[in-house]
Amino acid sequence: MPDAASDRALDRRLDRLIDLLAEHATVVLSGTKLCSELHVPQSTLWDWVERLRSMGLEIRGVPGTGYQLMKVPDVLTPHTIRRRLHRGEFGCRIHHLYKTDSTMNEAGRLAVAGAPHGTVIVAEEQTAGRGRLGHAWMSEPRVGLYFTLVLRPALMPAAAPILTLLCGVAVAEALQELTALPMDLRWPNDVMCRDKKCAGILVEMTAEPERIAYVLAGFGINVNHAAIPAELATEATSLCLETGRTFSRVEILAAVLARMEHYYERLLKEGPAVIVERFSQISSYSRGKRVKVIDSKDGLAGVTAGLSPEGVLLVQRDDGKMERVLSGHVRPQ
Ligand code: BTN
Repeated sequence: MPDAASDRALDRRLDRLIDLLAEHATVVLSGTKLCSELHVPQSTLWDWVERLRSMGLEIRGVPGTGYQLMKVPDVLTPHTIRRRLHRGEFGCRIHHLYKTDSTMNEAGRLAVAGAPHGTVIVAEEQTAGRGRLGHAWMSEPRVGLYFTLVLRPALMPAAAPILTLLCGVAVAEALQELTALPMDLRWPNDVMCRDKKCAGILVEMTAEPERIAYVLAGFGINVNHAAIPAELATEATSLCLETGRTFSRVEILAAVLARMEHYYERLLKEGPAVIVERFSQISSYSRGKRVKVIDSKDGLAGVTAGLSPEGVLLVQRDDGKMERVLSGHVRPQ
């Protein structure tokens, strides 16, 4: 039975095959040459080509000659992602998995083993994607973006919540630029488009009393979903459903990483105000919105009154009392 290490080794070799085909997309690549590049026999090459075809890649086989990629695929190989990234720390290591339970679990294992700041774990499919507050995250294969970024910030654990807002700002800006859709942020970090959620962020921290050991920032973006399951359809959407177009997941991932790095550097240099300010500009929820906070112990309801300097949401009850919201789901009332 294949173990995780051999799955990962196969993932890397499939990536290499895609990269070779993509680099020579207009020509038929000789099967013999591919076999010698990949150090595998013809039968293995054939098996791998079949696997890629089953994932939707259009690969033409020319009997007795070789294979030709008919369309450059939107597969998240590290090589393809790196070509779109500027030199920086975010994306310094990229682990691409065809299938995993959750990129959070995979990132956790790598972080414990010493994965550097900026490591990215991205999956084509998750079988147990996790959302905030114990929810599942629907992770339909190959149409969405599912990735986790490993951060090792020199911050006190109490400062970590600002990272959650930072992630939301980075995603909202990247999506707005690439799709021209209006993006909104629902505290703490749901990315909304026309009142439906198109992306979610899960931030998990491992800390010692005086320092953060690492933070895992998980991003789920509904990119090319042609439909949303009926039970979620009133609440969730995808970029494709909102525009009628499909988008390059590689391009979106690269844009999010670039903005993450930009705001992360500003956070370290300038402090949290820059993030709080940008979040408040984007988010229609941050001020003057009547909301209820689900999961709060006594069913908090009121009108939002801005963010505190550390990024806590302030909600004013009808009796005038100001509450600080630290967790929970914020919904319009
Ligand atoms: C939420 O809005 O509830 C957060 C959703 C976060 C989903 C992403 S998908 C990639 C990463 N892996 C997971 O299991 N969860 C996050």
